[in-house]
Amino acid sequence: MPNIVVVGLQWGDEGKGKIIDLLSEKAHAIVRAQGGNNAGHTIVVGGDEYKFHLIPSGILYPSTICMIGGGVVIDPEVLAHEIEVLEKKNISLKGRLGISPYAHMIFSYHRLLDQLSEKNKTDAIGTTGRGIGPCYADKVHRIGIRMADFLHEETFKKKLQQTLQQKNQVLKLLYQHAPLKFDDVFTEAVRYRDKLSSYVGDVEETLEELILKDKTIIFEGAQGALLDTTFGTYPFVTSSCTLSGGICTGVGIGPTKIDQTLGVMKAYSTRVGNGPFPTEFQKDEISKFPDPFVSRELGTTTGRVRRVGWFDAVLLKRSILLNGVDALAVTKLDILDSLNTIKICVAYELNGRRIETPPILEEERLQIKPVYEEMEGWMEDTSSITEYKDLPKQAKDYLEHLQETLLVPIFLISMGPSRDQSIILNSFLD
Ligand code: GDP
Ligand code: IMO
Ligand code: MG
Repeated sequence: MPNIVVVGLQWGDEGKGKIIDLLSEKAHAIVRAQGGNNAGHTIVVGGDEYKFHLIPSGILYPSTICMIGGGVVIDPEVLAHEIEVLEKKNISLKGRLGISPYAHMIFSYHRLLDQLSEKNKTDAIGTTGRGIGPCYADKVHRIGIRMADFLHEETFKKKLQQTLQQKNQVLKLLYQHAPLKFDDVFTEAVRYRDKLSSYVGDVEETLEELILKDKTIIFEGAQGALLDTTFGTYPFVTSSCTLSGGICTGVGIGPTKIDQTLGVMKAYSTRVGNGPFPTEFQKDEISKFPDPFVSRELGTTTGRVRRVGWFDAVLLKRSILLNGVDALAVTKLDILDSLNTIKICVAYELNGRRIETPPILEEERLQIKPVYEEMEGWMEDTSSITEYKDLPKQAKDYLEHLQETLLVPIFLISMGPSRDQSIILNSFLD
């Protein structure tokens, strides 16, 4: 199997976790490159459900190596907790989990500043409140604290003291908030140091060795293309590069080491948090759609109900370009089983004009009206179908239409959260 990047092509939650878990059986290593515990990747195996925020989604296979690259931001409490949950399930991580010392750390002041900033904005982004933006801001502002710094007692104390001084000024002047005490922040953070330290190692060198030995590596994207800081629906985006290109800078390898990019997309659209969503359902459409429990459209990280809408081919074409997608995985086809008509947005109308590329200005994004093509639904349960030929004709028509519109082959179709609810269509990964 080649080295592949698996990325989300919409606003996150496309089902990347399920697809990565499925493909990990044939991989030697799975590596996260960016984001933090804003991500929530769900895997369902044999009736057990796992939700990973930082640990790569390949960890459930006993022989895979899972690594957290230098571009990820790590909340020590969350990572320590994830390790404990797996240990309790007797999933051994020793020698299998690697954490890059270059990764930046999220502390309580990042979470607090994230939440205060959201509360005080007239146009809140609807972040996960996990401190992601403030942590990445510190990184580029060059006042961040990396895993290597965190593990070195004196360095951590010195850096935390300097940073806290600055953060307390911001808390006081901008938010009239009481200062944070050094001892409290320090004590809370170091509680998890021992749990993490044994996993911190030279991820970059391990990766190089694996590449030299021609081992198969899956690079696990988090979030989705439309949440990318540069090319997403700015400013309603996350704070890292969520594109396949971001993988290289996030794990420390060159683009020539990646062979293929697999883009994951739902058969419809969802978004959690605020920001433009051209194809979002109208009230009467929401009422016909399966409820959030049935459709599994409750945020994996925050539990918020996800906004839902029709498939947006205009945005998808852009996401495919931004990522250089070679093949597609279409997820959640089963969720459309009960709809008698299904719409695909193929263009927008802006001030009476038809446009086929997403506008950059937020004002225009809010004004555009989707131009839809309508297709007949299949009104049949697809969740236990295991072969493409057995799918209802209308479902095949829908998938083939997506493929023709996007000009990228579909490699995999998913019709349920479990591994076996998947159909692999071609030999893209052989
Ligand atoms: P990720 O962030 O991209 O990994 O996606 P999430 O795990 O946050 O959200 C996807 C949700 O849909 C999870 O609850 C998955 O278990 C579930 N899921 C994934 N693929 C399918 C599918 O094909 N059908 C159904 N019904 N659920 C799916
Ligand atoms: P996975 O990897 C869906 C969204 C938040 C918010 C915006 C900014 O599970 O697909 P942040 O906390 O990152 O500053 O929030 O980004 N967001 C996600 N939405 N899936 C995710 O990750 C997300 N990670 C961030 O809801 O709109
Ligand atoms: Mg998710």
